[in-house]
Amino acid sequence: MDARVYELLNDQINKELYSAYLYLSFADYYEEEGLEGFANWYEIQAQEERDHAMIFRNYLHENGQKVTLLAIDQPNKTFSSHLEPLEAALEHEQYVTRLINDIYAAAAEVRDYRTMNFLGWFIEEQQEEEDNAEKMITRMKLFGSDAKALYDLDQENAARTYTTPAPLAGE
Ligand code: FEO
Repeated sequence: MDARVYELLNDQINKELYSAYLYLSFADYYEEEGLEGFANWYEIQAQEERDHAMIFRNYLHENGQKVTLLAIDQPNKTFSSHLEPLEAALEHEQYVTRLINDIYAAAAEVRDYRTMNFLGWFIEEQQEEEDNAEKMITRMKLFGSDAKALYDLDQENAARTYTTPAPLAGE
């Protein structure tokens, strides 16, 4: 495997684990705010991010590459409104999309078609991640200022359940 492609893939394990950590901090914020449905939504999101890290890790192992686990940064976000974490989430997902695109570009440069193919799932996933993040913002803007509507929104988020992503489910 090309050294630059390897480095970006290995780094991405760290970036995904940081995403899990970041979303766990959002879950903590909402838990403290009494919005347990939002907390549930971000706990599941954190679980998905850990899964993303595992998918990159597995890919390196399957290609005979050594995994080097790096230190995970501390999420240092403090929030002054229910909307703020949702906006931070969209910004973060847009950043992750750029990271995935960078790995794809590096793989394309050295004609690493296998890695490009592997990244296809993440390219689609990022579209969904950004779309979800945008919907969370829109709905909070629409309903967040009305207590009853916010309660309903929280209940809806409480219903989110975890599903194993396809690459880990062996599909
Ligand atoms: Fe691992 Fe939210 O993208």
